[in-house]
Amino acid sequence: MKYLSEKANNIVIIGFMGVGKGTVARALAKKTYKFNIDTDDLIESMQKQKIKFIFKQKGEEHFRKLERQCAIWLEFCVRNTIISTGGGFFVQENIKRLGKVVYLKSSFDGIIKRLQELRGAKIKFAKRPLLQDLDKARELYEERIITYEKICDIIVDVENKKINTISTDILKQIKGLDENN
Ligand code: S3P
Repeated sequence: MKYLSEKANNIVIIGFMGVGKGTVARALAKKTYKFNIDTDDLIESMQKQKIKFIFKQKGEEHFRKLERQCAIWLEFCVRNTIISTGGGFFVQENIKRLGKVVYLKSSFDGIIKRLQELRGAKIKFAKRPLLQDLDKARELYEERIITYEKICDIIVDVENKKINTISTDILKQIKGLDENN
């Protein structure tokens, strides 16, 4: 496959389920006049099926293969875009080639509190198969946070922060990275 251009200048948002990756990505898109796409949305539209049912009918392993396919497509076909990702997408070996990786950091309890306070909270929990058992989800969180921090270019603490503060902080840090390169 040929590269569209040398460098994928996207912003890639990673972090645990429910931390607000989609919300932050939409705010960044608005601020920067860029488009925003979400890996879960891409997979759902390609499969014509909700993530919840992909997990139920074909299993997690199949879903991870779809994420891999999505990562390859993003690398070769997507530029200048804000990409929000599913909480497990960070394991993709090409993630750093997709663009600047931004990790949204929050405590597990902070994430659960955020979800509980959202309008339609019940649906927000129900659509996430790996958030059905909160003890298991906490374990998964503990397992993942080390790698989230290790692979990202930027860490942004989002707990109890306003969306405008978060998006301004991200853009400031990205500018700093660009100036140092
Ligand atoms: C997952 C996170 C979900 C979704 C799928 C698996 C994960 O996305 O991709 O349910 O492994 O953490 P969100 O992070 O948007 O909830």
